[in-house]
Amino acid sequence: MLDNSQFPAEVTLVEVGPRDGLQNESQWVATDIKLKLIELLADSGLKKIEATSFVSPKWVPQMADHTEVMQGLSDLKQVEFTVLTPNLQGFEKAISAGAKEVAIFAAASESFSQKNINCSIEQSLQRFQPLMQLAKQQNIAVRGYVSCVLGCPYEGEIQPSKVAQVSQQLVNLGCYQISLGDTIGQGNPLSTKRLLACVLEQVPIDQLAVHFHDTYGLALANIMVALEMGISTIDASVAGLGGCPYAKGASGNVATEDVVYLLESLAIKSQINLDKLVKAGDYISQYLGRGNNSKVAKAILSKAID
Ligand code: HMG
Ligand code: MG
Repeated sequence: MLDNSQFPAEVTLVEVGPRDGLQNESQWVATDIKLKLIELLADSGLKKIEATSFVSPKWVPQMADHTEVMQGLSDLKQVEFTVLTPNLQGFEKAISAGAKEVAIFAAASESFSQKNINCSIEQSLQRFQPLMQLAKQQNIAVRGYVSCVLGCPYEGEIQPSKVAQVSQQLVNLGCYQISLGDTIGQGNPLSTKRLLACVLEQVPIDQLAVHFHDTYGLALANIMVALEMGISTIDASVAGLGGCPYAKGASGNVATEDVVYLLESLAIKSQINLDKLVKAGDYISQYLGRGNNSKVAKAILSKAID
């Protein structure tokens, strides 16, 4: 029996496909397709799914049906859904639509903050204050993202100390967890290790999650480093869907199927049925008319055809 005691015994996956995965699709994805995808993801055992975002539809048209998506989720009681909210206006709409958890998003790069949410990092943190107050009053859990933690499409290298600072500010605002986003997938195992070591000086390990994009194929290698350092929450997107509208060159997120396969190979519990997950990824890939970005899904699907 191989010794896996250096890894967390169990990992929580945050499925971001319906939001981060689809937000960049230029072809409109019908609401019932989004809902079917979410249903298939839930059926695979995923317990935490980011369903949509309450951002401006002028900025991200694909998420314009956020309210309809939320209304369609009511039967899936076993899943905790979270939605992205950039400001008080988005938060209020999300709560009216029934959201019980939201995510706010800041960046470690000034230029990315301007391009993504039209304000500086400091302004964004100020903008989140009334949202956080309301969330506290209404008992709404808030997750915090930091984008561009391992590189920015406009500024290049980002200092880990800046990421640690923004992460700590989000914790101080009341976020229960910080998801560190390698938005353009520039991280490698060494830079990931350096970043996590720095952020862990400010944020407790059980409040940290990692969010890798697989632009250069190193997402799983980076996740291995995170697991070795004890991180037990990983964001991923089914079929490797994704990209960011404000980060040119950002390819898909790490594929959930590939992460589940890695976890299974390390005997780390995730409670996901891989075959069902592959079915969900295949469903949306077929709808979008494009190949599946998950290597594991491709291998499993090609075996099924043999
Ligand atoms: P703005 O234009 O500066 O906002 O956008 P504003 O406050 O000046 O308002 C302008 C107009 O937008 C007004 O309408 C507002 O009512 C409206 P008008 O008077 O012109 O008719 N507005 C809204 N409408 C709907 N929902 C709202 C909302 N707020 C204002 N919530 C804003 C500021 C933040 C709204 C805009 O920049 C925005 O929506 N940005 C979102 C961009 C986005 O979604 N990016 C992708 C997500 S981040 C990401 O993918 C990275 C992540 O995955 C981590 C990683 O991968 O690393 C999280
Ligand atoms: Mg992302």
